[in-house]
Amino acid sequence: MLSGARGEGARKAMEIVVALGTIYEAQDLVPVSHVQVSGVSYKNLGEAGLEFLLEWAAQGAQVRVPTTLNPAGMDVQQWRELGFSAEFAAQQQAVLDAFTAMGIRPTCTCTPYLVGYSPAYGDHLAWGESSAVSYANSVLGARTNREGGPGALAAAIVGRTARYGLHLDENRLATLLVDVRCPVQESSDFGALGYLVGKTAQNGVPYFRGLDPAQCIPDKLKSLGAAMAASGAVALYHVEGVTPEAQPTTSSQRPPIRDNAQVIIIDSLDPAYTSLNLNLNLNPDLVWIGCPHASLDEIAAIAARVQGKKLQTPLWITAARQVREQAAQGGYLRIIEQAGGRIVSDTCLIVAPVEELGFGCIATNSGKGAFYGPGQVHAQMCFGSTEQCLEAAISGKWQAKWKD
Ligand code: F3S
Repeated sequence: MLSGARGEGARKAMEIVVALGTIYEAQDLVPVSHVQVSGVSYKNLGEAGLEFLLEWAAQGAQVRVPTTLNPAGMDVQQWRELGFSAEFAAQQQAVLDAFTAMGIRPTCTCTPYLVGYSPAYGDHLAWGESSAVSYANSVLGARTNREGGPGALAAAIVGRTARYGLHLDENRLATLLVDVRCPVQESSDFGALGYLVGKTAQNGVPYFRGLDPAQCIPDKLKSLGAAMAASGAVALYHVEGVTPEAQPTTSSQRPPIRDNAQVIIIDSLDPAYTSLNLNLNLNPDLVWIGCPHASLDEIAAIAARVQGKKLQTPLWITAARQVREQAAQGGYLRIIEQAGGRIVSDTCLIVAPVEELGFGCIATNSGKGAFYGPGQVHAQMCFGSTEQCLEAAISGKWQAKWKD
């Protein structure tokens, strides 16, 4: 491949994989079973990114392993009704066409593990989306570094990635022991905890002690990992007695923690709620749930809450297209749409051109979404529990401290 025997597109890909392996002193390459490519939204790629992809596709590049995409900048089916411009839609579609020409499935979601691409324990991957990377490593026990857009695409074309970082056992030990001494229950609590820990952990590996295993369901763990990957660069964490690498198989086996790990105590989530909730007494002009993309269970719970209501504030639930289809089959989509809400696919409020859509104040239950909103889409963010967000959608008013 490196000599160009498989064509120019493959040569370029192998050059990138070899360059990464050289920088990180990898001993060899490891086959990957799946690739998730980020950097899909035209809003972030721009014309230069689109041209780069078009050129690579024209050079005959083809992926060799199943490969899916992160969210794009729009819902490819509902973009007109949702207010996206025709110009943006055309440019975004050109990006998706370039990826498709390389054999990539345009499954535009940050939760590929919810739509049939759930890796097995120990699988090696090259995933780009930071929240998905965290979920794959931590909750599923697969192995992936946090790949950049070109790095992931190159790995897909080569079918291998350089074996360094989290592909190696020694780098999967915890560097930070987090002693949790406050209740962590709501999905937003997990996001708040992730926000606090990510700032300390940076690109280290946290090990959580003190979380109630009954609360640590996959939907909440996806919120935890997403927030840590946003406020820090955490790509792997362990939860004692919950995640697969933090479950000793013998009584003498030690937890996966480095001897010199730093220790922090978390005894309140208030600092996270204070920082992420701008609390400017604004009422949101959009309520957004589904960062990372919502699961069917999350959608079902929302449908039950809004059934028979008339929403005063628009509600967007972002979810993978396949999950939206399941929600339609289950009757949840109809209930949500009858209330005035929407299930939006292929995109999210951080990678979409939100300024163009006119949303200036967004309420969310996502620690990651609340963290990125001000910087990425210049929105004021209200951050609270799912109930707090749905109450805002129903009443049109944001209550900074929601109480029953
Ligand atoms: Fe997914 Fe967008 Fe959040 S890509 S994790 S919904 S910022």
